[in-house]
Amino acid sequence: MSIFTIPERKAWVLRTNHADYAIGVDESGALQHLYWGEPLNLLDEYPSTAGQHAWIWEPEEGNSREECMPWGKRSFAEPGLKVEFADRTRDLVLTFDGAGIEGDTLRIALKDVLKSLQVTVSYRIYDEFDVIERSVEVTNTGEGPVNIEQVMSAIWHLPVYPSYRITYLTGHWGAETQLRREMLQEGKKVIEARRGITGHNNNPFFAVDFGDTTEEYGLVYFGGLAFSGHWKIVAERTPYQTLQIAAGIHDFDFRWLLEAGETFVSPVSVGGFTTKGFGDASHKLHGYQQKHVLRNSGQLRKVLYNSWEATSFDVNEENQKQLAEKAARLGVERFVVDDGWFGKRNDDKAGLGDWYVNKTKFPNGLQPLIDDVTSLGMDFGIWVEPEMVNPDSDLYRQHPDWVYHFTDRPRTEGRNQLVLNLAREDVQAFVYNAVDELLSTHAISFIKWDMNRYFSEPGWPGAPDGRDREIWVRHVNALYDIWRRLQEKHPHVQFESCAGGGGRVDMGIMRFADQFWTSDNTDALDRLRIQWGYSHAYTAKSMVCWVTEPVNYMNGRRIPLKFRFHCAMMGTLGIGMNLNHLTEQDMVEAAGYIAQYKAIRPIVQEGLCYRLSPPEQSDLTLVQYVGRDGQEAVVFVFRHAQQFGHPALPVRLRGLEPFIPYRNEETGEVRSGQGWMSRGILLSLTGDYDSAMIRLVQVQD
Ligand code: GLA
Repeated sequence: MSIFTIPERKAWVLRTNHADYAIGVDESGALQHLYWGEPLNLLDEYPSTAGQHAWIWEPEEGNSREECMPWGKRSFAEPGLKVEFADRTRDLVLTFDGAGIEGDTLRIALKDVLKSLQVTVSYRIYDEFDVIERSVEVTNTGEGPVNIEQVMSAIWHLPVYPSYRITYLTGHWGAETQLRREMLQEGKKVIEARRGITGHNNNPFFAVDFGDTTEEYGLVYFGGLAFSGHWKIVAERTPYQTLQIAAGIHDFDFRWLLEAGETFVSPVSVGGFTTKGFGDASHKLHGYQQKHVLRNSGQLRKVLYNSWEATSFDVNEENQKQLAEKAARLGVERFVVDDGWFGKRNDDKAGLGDWYVNKTKFPNGLQPLIDDVTSLGMDFGIWVEPEMVNPDSDLYRQHPDWVYHFTDRPRTEGRNQLVLNLAREDVQAFVYNAVDELLSTHAISFIKWDMNRYFSEPGWPGAPDGRDREIWVRHVNALYDIWRRLQEKHPHVQFESCAGGGGRVDMGIMRFADQFWTSDNTDALDRLRIQWGYSHAYTAKSMVCWVTEPVNYMNGRRIPLKFRFHCAMMGTLGIGMNLNHLTEQDMVEAAGYIAQYKAIRPIVQEGLCYRLSPPEQSDLTLVQYVGRDGQEAVVFVFRHAQQFGHPALPVRLRGLEPFIPYRNEETGEVRSGQGWMSRGILLSLTGDYDSAMIRLVQVQD
């Protein structure tokens, strides 16, 4: 597929395998959105405008569908770009200034009609996934400074339609990625984070349909923002039945100073289109992430053990060795020591910032434990939280000015800690060096990088003039840069992104992260909902799921080992329980699940995920994964609580080759793919928290 120009018109079509996206320059020189949807056959079928009209009180530009939506003239919609020039002018009118196609990327240059400001809008297409990456670059080509007050990575215009429905992810700590779906009325639906990180409350993902789409059928426009800081996505429906979705860095408390000759580059916003329902939208996003975004995406993720829920801050050489020995017996491939191994870290009140090994807990350093873990055949991983400092730490005593704060005002602590100011180069150097030193002096192959509070008092005393509100972006860019440099120097080390569970899950950090800690909530019933929502936006390979204690601390609920394992086997499997609590019989059972997981993990981590029955709709949750070659499928089935003696109803499978026979590996039953899909699968689950994993394998002649 390709990007092509429509002859005799200044217009371009971005054509992917199943979608067209068309833009063009109007008579005034503005870059207008023309079309987004199924591929059109004839070049003259692309409209010359995307349907804007002038209404009384609502001029054309007020209802405009400009691709970049500069704030100027009579433009009233959520702006894509708002600037203030040195002479205090706050009016921006962008006109076409050239275009270039390079491979799969289209770049359109725009400039202000009078002032020296250049804006380049970029589109990169991913044919196979019907996905477009958009971003903007703003260059100050003049003499004086320009302040950017708002810059969106993309404005996505949808076709004019009488009804729109948005799907998004919301929640809080311990309840991340809860799926919500609601009709959009006139006005704005804003999902955002103004907390310094991606956040638990909203996730930078959206999907919009016309109100009638299902998992299997219907149009979906979907996408997200690849940024891990201050962000917003605004779905704005006008009384004229238009809908635009602005996605970018949050304009709240944001300002970026662009000196003469400087360029600001926005993060990427991703947008995609399908006619085949929410399921296919997820397949496209997952495929795009697996192939183009997720770090080390070609490698299968290892089964890890993490000691946090077992030993909390009380880690020491002896108890970790004891857990490691048991973890290895289970078939675990990576052993991770969580919080508590450094500084004076005996609880969450002290130690962050002092990244040296605690000699009381590890008298001979970490090496004896690492030797033990590696001789047991496992990788060694470790927890760090380098963007943070406890006031009770040597680092803070030496550098109290290294945190975000306003001069002579109180500094609000969260979990007894303050956020280091990563906009400062000396702080960046400290953070890089601390982790580099750790990795250079130990055989560590995995880092769980945590971040356990939101920002407050975001002041940067001593900032260069006019730059103090840039911290929202500078922090994130500095973090990406530190990860990039660490990964260049230590390429074998894998990184897990964590922020009190799933507070930093997005496609921005995903370029540097091998996986995400999904949630601190490991209650398997709650997890079904968290993971269900997560699957709408992110691939299962990135989703780390632990099996923890039988009675979970979150709700005090008791759930059988089998159910807990099956739930965690739907992503990247981890074990988080205290293995000393397991009986010999539990150990054998757990080892059996881990062996099963290893056999099916390519299907789960790299296959297509079909959501068959949502956790909130009935007492059954069903999720199916099908290998990309269609040869094998795994179905996870969960019965939450049987009532009134009702048997579980048959569930239709999806994604199988209709004419090829598949065998149920457990029962030996063989049916055609169509048979499994149309007749459905009968489940014999009873009582509370019953579950099953069903493997279907193509029967070869
Ligand atoms: C956060 C993480 C947990 C654990 C603790 C350690 O809450 O999400 O998994 O690492 O910090 O303090």
